[in-house]
Amino acid sequence: MKGSTALNHLKASKINVAIDGPAGAGKSTVARMVAERLGYVYVDTGAMYRAVTLKALREGVPDDERERLTALAEKTDIRLVVHPDGQRVMMDGEDVTEQIRSAEVTSRVSAVAAVPALRSVLVALQRAMAEDKGVVMDGRDIGTNVLPQAEVKVFLTASVRVRAERRWKEIKGKQPGVTLESLMDAIEKRDRSDSERETSPLRRADDAVEIDTSNLHIDEVVDRILALCRTSLGGRAR
Ligand code: DC
Repeated sequence: MKGSTALNHLKASKINVAIDGPAGAGKSTVARMVAERLGYVYVDTGAMYRAVTLKALREGVPDDERERLTALAEKTDIRLVVHPDGQRVMMDGEDVTEQIRSAEVTSRVSAVAAVPALRSVLVALQRAMAEDKGVVMDGRDIGTNVLPQAEVKVFLTASVRVRAERRWKEIKGKQPGVTLESLMDAIEKRDRSDSERETSPLRRADDAVEIDTSNLHIDEVVDRILALCRTSLGGRAR
């Protein structure tokens, strides 16, 4: 099947695509681009953990009060809304897209995401979003836990230095005092806590395809994933 024909088939007969990997591997950019090419919905699960973290900060709920954190997740209305300028994250009707990227939220989100019952609340929401297929979902446990039946599973990686450099370019000048070294330290710390937590740690699913993005252009990564989607369609058609 020719590439463009296969893409049209993928638009008509939908599949789910799971993209996991550590912070800074390029997941969100790549997932957004793949979703755009396929006409699918992009679901940024990290943004959902970030929204709950923002609410916990505002309400002064500490990391060790796990029941309160879970109750907070249960009563929070989180929506990912398609917008001409990209996806917006709405929390109880408020647009928190920018606020959930603050350094304060970033430094606390791993602890909040480590609460098992809170994860169950968000995972149920994520599964509901993918029920009708046609979703590209990125996170840490999508291929292993949220959507183990996803037709395409990808695990994106990149070296700590490359990931810190990418982040550095994004924030340069905006956050005085932040150095490349401090970013590398923060990334290593977050990798450790995401990989070592008990519930749904960051781990490559056995059937996920690993792509090291350190030396790849973003378009190459997207093309590789689209090729996997076409292959999956071919396999199903046989
Ligand atoms: O992808 P991100 O940096 O926005 O994710 C924020 C945090 O949420 C990160 O520390 C890992 C956690 N997370 C998770 O535990 N499971 C997911 N499916 C997505 C994110």
